[in-house]
Amino acid sequence: MTYETILIETPAPGVGLVRLNRPQALNALNAQITREIFAALEAFDADDSVRCIVLTGSDKAFAAGADIKEMEATDAVTLFASNDFTDWSRMTRVRKPVIAAVSGWALGGGCEMAMICDMIVASETAKFGQPEITIGVIPGAGGTQRLTRAVGKAIAMEMILANRHLTAQEALHYGLVNRVYPVESYLTEAIQLAEKIAGMPGAAAKLAKEAVNKAFELSLTEGLNYEKRNFYLLFGTEDKAEGMKAFVEKRKAEWKHR
Ligand code: CAA
Repeated sequence: MTYETILIETPAPGVGLVRLNRPQALNALNAQITREIFAALEAFDADDSVRCIVLTGSDKAFAAGADIKEMEATDAVTLFASNDFTDWSRMTRVRKPVIAAVSGWALGGGCEMAMICDMIVASETAKFGQPEITIGVIPGAGGTQRLTRAVGKAIAMEMILANRHLTAQEALHYGLVNRVYPVESYLTEAIQLAEKIAGMPGAAAKLAKEAVNKAFELSLTEGLNYEKRNFYLLFGTEDKAEGMKAFVEKRKAEWKHR
């Protein structure tokens, strides 16, 4: 598939990079770019040579939200019929770890897209917000749910009701992001983190991601059972045999990602 609004790279062994590329609109998420992002993530998910994915924008904007110019012409019936925003659940079905490398604006759908990722590495200039109320609506791609789980009710309410933006340092403080780096190095650092994850046994990484995400959906007992099933399942992999053998033999494991 050829893309018009995103760029694709493999910047390090085992790492796939998806870069949003609509600079004229601060990477606003219209139907085309979201379709291309989801397709690219799915392509890397299906590519055996990639084990961790980085999703990024430009230094100025990760994404300034859903495309307001596109949405202006939309009414409720059309939106209900197209159900475009349901398509975002495709991102949640990506099984490999995804890191968002965020610089500049991460507003509305941009903030929501970063939060669907498994980790966020931010630049010092990153600004997170859910400004939908200022255009008469509310977050529609998970903001009311994922933001609340990430930063707690008090801060989520303030961001969604009063359009408070979080700086990168505030986002770090509230647990929305993993790390903050200067704008010159945040992407390199995100790629290095991705390379480290790509160097782990692939099946374990996928099943670990899946189990952690279940913590947001299941009761503790159900979650613990889910974790145990994934733990047992990994005892059937070649990498479990190799990993434990290598430990006993005091050598570095050679992963087959099987
Ligand atoms: N949709 C469409 N176009 C957008 C956009 C968006 N979300 N955000 C920015 N742009 C466009 C601007 O219209 C402008 O285009 P033109 O040059 O053709 O006028 C260009 O990008 C540059 O933007 P600005 O001139 O506004 O840049 P700025 O530096 O002065 O301001 C900003 C930056 C504060 C991010 C401002 O652009 C802004 O407020 N953008 C809208 C943010 C927003 O409300 N996002 C939420 C969208 S709704 C949503 O996301 C719903 C959901 O939950 C899924």
